[in-house]
Amino acid sequence: MLILGIESSCDETAAALVEDGRTIRANVIASQHELHEEYGGVVPEIASRAHAERILPVIRAALAEAGATLRDVDAVAVGHRPGLIGSLLVGVAAAKALAWSLDKPLIGVDHLHAHLYAPLLAPHAPADLYPALGLVVSGGHTSLYRVGGPLEIARLGATIDDAVGEAFDKVAAILGLGHPGGPIIDRLAMQGDDHAHDFPVSTLEPDSLDFSFSGVKTAVLYAVRGKPQRRGGKGRASEFPRDHTDLSEQEKADVAASFQRAAVDAIITKLGRALDRWTDEPRPRSLVVGGGVSANSRLRHDLAHLAHARAIELHLPPMSLCLDNAAMIAGLAYHRAARGDVDDLTLAASPAGVDAAS
Ligand code: KG4
Ligand code: ZN
Repeated sequence: MLILGIESSCDETAAALVEDGRTIRANVIASQHELHEEYGGVVPEIASRAHAERILPVIRAALAEAGATLRDVDAVAVGHRPGLIGSLLVGVAAAKALAWSLDKPLIGVDHLHAHLYAPLLAPHAPADLYPALGLVVSGGHTSLYRVGGPLEIARLGATIDDAVGEAFDKVAAILGLGHPGGPIIDRLAMQGDDHAHDFPVSTLEPDSLDFSFSGVKTAVLYAVRGKPQRRGGKGRASEFPRDHTDLSEQEKADVAASFQRAAVDAIITKLGRALDRWTDEPRPRSLVVGGGVSANSRLRHDLAHLAHARAIELHLPPMSLCLDNAAMIAGLAYHRAARGDVDDLTLAASPAGVDAAS
């Protein structure tokens, strides 16, 4: 079964063709990073307009890469939640139009569940790695899951404030670096001393499986700019005594490395806690990780260490499937199609995920 997947939830316009939920025949991603760079973050209006311009060329490019035509497509899948609503609507409208005109099934997929499927698209991934403890770390989400199968996913915890990728992006902005900041911090941290600063590692309540990254972000802000001082009495804005231009390259690298250590330690702590608390049988046999921050070199290293210490398998996406892509959408959709569970043209885009309000 050849599934065309479409992804447009944030600032990547993507289309992919995946066979039987395993074999990637094409995976095309048009990033909009350069359009949002000058604003230091994704501007929703600009994102949806760019998706509308790019979606058809990206789908055509995916078909060409696979050497296929629309007639070869057995079903059309689309990431329909969660994400920026204007962006999601472009992908959902394109998927509906294609499914209707080709008279093929339409399958809506949860973007976060698809990130948890990305490791199964690695060339030598085992077909069955469940039950698994799942971790999604991205620009919009940081969540832990109990995963019983590609579609059996229950959330255990999530961030109560910033997502970890968002914290990487904000720290990069505080240091005057570009956007998205995650890969830049990752590279810079390699030259820094990760113990130069003792930034807080958030653990929350002893039994909590939630995350918090706003504290470490504020600590970085004060380390770089100093404590804000009130100027000119009541009601006047606070001013910082310094900014990133006062830091040497080495000092910036030290901040980046120390922040990255605190952020990754917080994630590893929660994974350890979740493994301790998963006492009922069957116990997890693997750790499955997805989302843009799963490209982070320190996180990948520390995850491998944790998996080894806990004697469980670790399944990470290949680097090309960490960031938003449509192969993970088409791959997961296969499992719905295989059990005859498809959508109709009333499928709605939704800014919230399936387990948003728990
Ligand atoms: O999954 P993704 O492409 O989009 C969302 O669904 O949010 O993740 C994007 C996020 C951004 O915050 C980006 O800075 C972060 O992933 N990211 C990284 C790295 N590569 C991307 N964060 C840390 N280290 C990296 N190497
Ligand atoms: Zn994502």
